[in-house]
Amino acid sequence: VQVPSFRTKMPLVGLIGGTGDLGYALGVHLSKKQEVLLGSRKIERAKAAVEEILAEKNVELLKRNLRPAENHEAAQSCDVLILTVPHANALETVASLSGDFRGNQVLVSAVAAIAKRGDEFVVEGDPSGESFAQKIRQVLPSSVKVAVAFQTVPANILYREKEISADVPVAAESPEVYETVALLISGIAGLRPLYLGSLQLASEIERLTAFLLNVGKRNGLKSPTIKFPSF
Ligand SMILES: NC(=O)c1ccc[n+]([C@@H]2O[C@H](COP(=O)([O-])OP(=O)(O)OC[C@H]3O[C@@H](n4cnc5c(N)ncnc54)[C@H](OP(=O)(O)O)[C@@H]3O)[C@@H](O)[C@H]2O)c1
Repeated sequence: VQVPSFRTKMPLVGLIGGTGDLGYALGVHLSKKQEVLLGSRKIERAKAAVEEILAEKNVELLKRNLRPAENHEAAQSCDVLILTVPHANALETVASLSGDFRGNQVLVSAVAAIAKRGDEFVVEGDPSGESFAQKIRQVLPSSVKVAVAFQTVPANILYREKEISADVPVAAESPEVYETVALLISGIAGLRPLYLGSLQLASEIERLTAFLLNVGKRNGLKSPTIKFPSF
C-alpha cells in the first residue's frame, strides 16, 4: 500500500468531530494552506460551526477552503483525516466509518487518554499499555495509515491565533506517514513536529495531556504546552 506523498500537492484534510475546540482550532489554521472539511455526525452542526468560524475570523482564504461535511463524507474524500473526538467515543467513531475510507489515506489521532478523578486529571487507558492509536489501527483497513499528534497543543490558544512556540510529538506507523503529518504541522505557524517513533510509543504522547493539565492547574500556568530546548 502506497503512503500518499503531498510534497507537490497539498492534501484535502478532514476533521472527524471537527465541531469541538480542537476541530475549530485546526480548521482555522489548516484551511489557510489547503482545503479542509470540518466534519460532524450531523451536517447541520458542521454548517453551524463553519458559519461561526467564518463570522469570527472573516478571512478570505478560510471562506474558500473551509467547508462543512458529515464525518462519513470526510472519511470518503479526504487524504488526511484528523480524529478530534473525546476518547470515550474514538473507537466507536472510527469503527462506524470503517466502510467509508477509500484507502491511500492517513488518519491522525489527536485523542488524549484523559479522565478527571477528584480534582486531578488521570490517564485513562488500557492497563495493558495499548494506546488508543493501536486500537484504532486494528479497526481500520490496512490501506489507511495511522499517526498520533496534537495531544500537547492547547486548542484555545491556537484558535485565538495567539503567538505560540511549541513542539508537537508525533508517533507514526512509518517514517513516510510521519513526513505527511509533519508537513501539515509545519504549516501551522509556531508548531514544530518532532518524530517520536512508531505506534508502540503512541501512548507516551496520549498520556501527555493529563500531565500538562495537572502541571498547569497546580502551578497556575495557563494553557501549558511542551518545547524541547537542545544544547
Ligand atoms: N481541546 C484541547 O485543547 C485538546 C488538545 C489536545 C487534544 N485534545 C483531544 O482532542 C479530542 C477532541 O477534543 P475537543 O476538546 O475538541 O473535544 P469535544 O469538544 O468534547 O468534542 C469534539 C466533537 O466530538 C464529537 N462527539 C462528541 N460525542 C461524540 C460521540 N459520542 N460520538 C462521536 N462523536 C462525538 C462532537 O461532534 P458532533 O456532535 O458535531 O459530531 C464534538 O463536537 C479529545 O480526544 C481531546 O482529548 C483536545
